Amino acid sequence: MARIVGTVSTSHIPAIGRAIAKNLQDDPYWKPFFGGFERVHEWLSRAKPDVAVVAYNDHGLNFFLDRMPTFAVGAAPQYVNADEGWGIPSLTPFRGDPDLSWHIIESLVADEFDVVTCQEMLVDHGFALPMALLWPGGTDWPVTTVPISVNTVQHPLPTPARCYKLGQAIGRAIDSYDEDLRVVVIGTGGLSHQLDGTRAGFINKDFDLMCMEKIVSDPEALTRYSIPQLVELAGAQGVELVNWLVARGMIGKNVEKVHSNYHIPISNTAAGLLVLENRA
Ligand code: DHB
Ligand code: FE
Repeated sequence: MARIVGTVSTSHIPAIGRAIAKNLQDDPYWKPFFGGFERVHEWLSRAKPDVAVVAYNDHGLNFFLDRMPTFAVGAAPQYVNADEGWGIPSLTPFRGDPDLSWHIIESLVADEFDVVTCQEMLVDHGFALPMALLWPGGTDWPVTTVPISVNTVQHPLPTPARCYKLGQAIGRAIDSYDEDLRVVVIGTGGLSHQLDGTRAGFINKDFDLMCMEKIVSDPEALTRYSIPQLVELAGAQGVELVNWLVARGMIGKNVEKVHSNYHIPISNTAAGLLVLENRA
């Protein structure tokens, strides 16, 4: 049977792609951020996942405002990364796992999550940069992938509670998949940030640190926030935290924290990183 080995949740920020392209990992600005991933690489070399199920949000590359699914699941043989205008070199395409994707989709629809299915899908920085952070080099991905796209861009957005339940439903789907696969769950986005409007540059460290603690010990506490409350507390783009809740929902209750890192700012964003191991 397939087994979820753990979750890695991390911010996704286009400037990371530029730093990788220019080899700035040891630069004083970047070291506190990239340094946080050394422990993740160690953990991945022990956890040895075969597949990454990635909960993220598209920022207008694959889905634009004219057609915005609340939840979409990739079911393609490969996912091509495209630059969104930031001038970052795009990465080697990511291998898909259509059999696992369709198993997840069938299970979700049976579970009353009527997702959009994508047999072709471009992936933006929300998907690609976390992959490049977990497996540096960006040429030979050791895992196949299943993208799970969540609308955090065009309101109305799905509630944190709904996103957590989506994660739980995907977790049930993975648990019932009849292949000996080791699955790592990746949640991307957040933590607090706002890119536009009068509150551009907004960061809320107290709220972020509370979220990083609660997501380990009591994720349900975070599902009680509404989207307007999250916008107020974490910023308009800080709502990307819901992707962490999708990831957290997948792995179940019995987890151990392996590693975390928090650093302000990277570009306009409070960068968070959290690794949880499945102890069920
Ligand atoms: C930034 C953060 C994001 O999450 C994003 O999608 C784009 C930009 C930033 O801080 O620059
Ligand atoms: Fe984003």
